[in-house]
Amino acid sequence: MNEIKIFSPATVANVSCGYDVLGFCLDTKGDEMVVRKTKEKGVTITKIVGADLPFETEKNVAGVAALAILEAAKADFGVEIEIYKNIKPGSGVGSSSASASGAVFAINEILGKTFDKQQLTLFGMKGEAVASGVEHADNVAPGLFGGFTLVKSVDPLKIVELPTPSELYATVIHPQIEIKTSEARGILPVKIELSSAIKQWANVGSFISGLYTNDYDLIADSLHDYIVEPHRSQLIPHFKEIRIASLNAGALGCGISGSGPSIFSLSKGSDIANKVANAMKEVYSKTDIKFDIYVTKINTDGVRIINK
Ligand code: HSE
Repeated sequence: MNEIKIFSPATVANVSCGYDVLGFCLDTKGDEMVVRKTKEKGVTITKIVGADLPFETEKNVAGVAALAILEAAKADFGVEIEIYKNIKPGSGVGSSSASASGAVFAINEILGKTFDKQQLTLFGMKGEAVASGVEHADNVAPGLFGGFTLVKSVDPLKIVELPTPSELYATVIHPQIEIKTSEARGILPVKIELSSAIKQWANVGSFISGLYTNDYDLIADSLHDYIVEPHRSQLIPHFKEIRIASLNAGALGCGISGSGPSIFSLSKGSDIANKVANAMKEVYSKTDIKFDIYVTKINTDGVRIINK
């Protein structure tokens, strides 16, 4: 195979209770990338459409992730990468990790599937670190594995795949304000109260149980964040109103997507997810904040091939 075109999906990290460990994969929102084998070794970013991102390989998330996998494979070839961004950088739905996951997935196909998804996640994290300064896997993993994932540990990397209840839908609203992941991480406390930790890890456990047993009530009861959201929500105008409006419209839960500013809701069924979208829209429509909103099912496949 000399060329492959892929779709690399947006992802929601943290999922309220699981800061830096839980994530899930969206279906309708994602980037497209074309990766082409070249005789010359190395990685060249030849095209970036839809975002103002660096072309220098070492500064580009996809470029760094691509170099990591090519080096690990001791490949005797290089690649050219075209990136068609549909996920706005800095929107909180894993824009940088989509570029990283897409690059490593595509190169692995060209290599003849040399690496498994755990290994691909490691290469993707190298790219992700260029954007956020930290090698976190809670966007890269759901992007590659699809569905819900748990980052059991980063060193050594251990990703646990979780089941996706079939009626689960996500509503995501992106208020067009800028929040840098590094700043959103910087405002978090270094130490937390034991009482908050107890509530939080109980929620992670019960959320995962809810995924396994299709218990939507338990999922709803678990989507609370006592540790990160109280700090980060101050960076997102009208967050509380959006959350209340979503829950009143029937959402199971509502929280900050990754480091924000996007806000996600999970609902049982697309009808409720659409009602939640209308309720969210109503909140921001009364302000002068521009926003983008979409409803999507959970993507259980992760990055997919468009053609090769
Ligand atoms: N878990 C990371 C954070 C995701 O919340 O900082 C960043 O997209």
